[in-house]
Amino acid sequence: MKFFAASDHGGFPLKKRLFKHLQSKGLDCTDLGCDTNESCDYPDFAALLCRQILKNPGSRGLLVCGTGIGMSIAANRFHGIRAALCHNSLEARLTRLHNDANVLVLGGRIIGEELAIDILENFLETPFEGGRHSRRVEKIDPKKIEE
Ligand code: RB5
Repeated sequence: MKFFAASDHGGFPLKKRLFKHLQSKGLDCTDLGCDTNESCDYPDFAALLCRQILKNPGSRGLLVCGTGIGMSIAANRFHGIRAALCHNSLEARLTRLHNDANVLVLGGRIIGEELAIDILENFLETPFEGGRHSRRVEKIDPKKIEE
């Protein structure tokens, strides 16, 4: 599975820590920025990441900003992106099982590193349950609206 990560300055320290974790697992992961603590605009990085996810079917991503809220609003504007803002591991597991979320969103100023790693692990390891959930997920992204 290809994995992409991106953040703004508010999410940069946590993204950096999580990216190291992803690399240590041997995952094929790409950091799309930002690369410093300097102030920048989260919608730019949400757009960069969402375009990569849509270009690489089956890939997944991680977005981090200060609260996670701006990133999730921006990411969910993209048809085909199901971005889930998670504050605990149960949410991460359930959003994979039920929503087939392809982007995990975290608030770098909201949660600690250890919890974030556990949330990320649940997001990576949990498959989509399918069945009745497939019908519901298809209703989120009706075919042929716009690209
Ligand atoms: C940046 O200061 C902050 O607004 C941003 O990281 C994020 O929390 C927006 O939702």
